[in-house]
Order: sequence, then C-alpha cells, then structure tokens
Amino acid sequence: MAARKTSVLLFFFMFLALSSAFPRNKNKYKPCKHLVLFFHDIIYNGKNAANATSAIVAAPQGANLTILAPQFHFGNIAVFDDPITLDNNLHSKPVGRAQGMYIYDTKNTFTSWLGFSFALNSTDYQGSINFIGADPILIKTRDISVVGGTGDFFMHRGIATINTDAYEGEVYFRLKVDIKFYECW
Ligand SMILES: *[C@@H]1O[C@H](CO)[C@@H](O)[C@H](O)[C@H]1NC(C)=O
Ligand SMILES: *[C@@H]1O[C@H](CO)[C@@H](O)[C@H](O)[C@H]1NC(C)=O
Ligand SMILES: *[C@@H]1O[C@H](CO)[C@@H](O)[C@H](O)[C@H]1NC(C)=O
Repeated sequence: MAARKTSVLLFFFMFLALSSAFPRNKNKYKPCKHLVLFFHDIIYNGKNAANATSAIVAAPQGANLTILAPQFHFGNIAVFDDPITLDNNLHSKPVGRAQGMYIYDTKNTFTSWLGFSFALNSTDYQGSINFIGADPILIKTRDISVVGGTGDFFMHRGIATINTDAYEGEVYFRLKVDIKFYECW
C-alpha cells in the first residue's frame, strides 16, 4: 500500500515537472525582434521574360510552363528571385532578395507550400532569414514558420504573418511579411 502511495505521488510530481516544462500559456511570449517587409513577384506570362522574377519549373501532365495548370494549379512548382522592399512600392530601393519556391500542393483549393529565404543586404540588415510553411492563399493572413537565420539573424526563430497586399491578374503579386522573432541571439 505504501509503495502504491509513493508511486501515485511520483506520478503527480512527474506531471508537475512536465507541465512546467511545456507551458500552456503562450500569450506571455513577446517578440524579441519585429520586422515588416514586402516582396514583389512578377510571374512569367510568355511575354515578359525580361521583367519576370519567377518561373514555372514544373507542371503536371497536360499543362505547360507558361500558364499555371487548371485545377487550382495543382502540380505546379515556381521558383522565384524577387526584390524585397521596405514599403509596398515595387520601385523602391530593394533591401534584398526573396529567393525560393512555391509548390501548389492542394487539389481542391488554392494552397501553396512556401520554402524560401530572405537574403538581406542593406545598411540596416545583413544576413538571411529562412521561411517554410503552408500558404492557404485565399485566407487573408497566413502564418508560416521562420525556421532560422544567419548573420544579423543568427539562430533566430519565429513566425511570419503573410498577406497578399496586391494581386494583379496572373502577372504580379505582392506579399507583406510581418516577421516576429521569438528567439533572438
Ligand atoms: C518591363 O518593365 C518596364 C518598366 O516597368 C516596362 O517599361 C517594360 O515594358 C517591361 N517589359 C516587359 C517585357 O514586360
Ligand atoms: C500553354 O497552355 C495554355 C493553356 O492551356 C495555352 O493557351 C498555351 O498556348 C500553352 N503554351 C505553350 C507554349 O504551349
Ligand atoms: C551587398 O551590397 C554591397 C553594396 O551594395 C555589395 O557590394 C555586396 O556585393 C552585396 N553583397 C551581396 C552578398 O549581395
């Protein structure tokens, strides 16, 4: 009986230890760094090769690399090298490049999967920030993970809230990226 009581007590303390190791109340976390940036994607449409900043590099059977595939673009992969600016003007002086890809990976709605880096090179910031996550495009704001960084963002992690700030046909879109780091070094 005494042994049983001891083990019950042991479990109780283990539970306490575990629950303090994984706190439930996340609201108390405040970002250690906050950054808002824009990037601009000019989609290749067959005629704008000189100005396009992204290219469709994979398409499903029956589609081509000029026009995004029907059925929610499922099966397309696009690679981009987009200018990053501090405001929403495409012609502002860029502070770096957003480079990576988006994969249309959902058959019954518009969702893409983003994997890209910000390579920042300005007087304020030098270094890279790496992003990964699902992007349900039709929702106004989406959160993706900030999985790491280099330079001024060495070992940084956090969440980026993205929203489509502008969308012009299938030729141009602009994303506003609100980056909150919760881990800074
Ligand atoms: C590229 O952009 C410039 C300036 O925005 C524009 O004048 C030109 O017509 C564009 N070229 C193509 C091929 O779209
Ligand atoms: C690509 O597909 C679109 C839509 O099916 C078609 O209009 C276009 O002519 C195709 N382009 C090429 C280069 O095959
Ligand atoms: C960063 O910008 C400076 C000044 O414009 C340039 O000399 C340098 O090559 C750039 N570095 C990278 C990695 O692009």
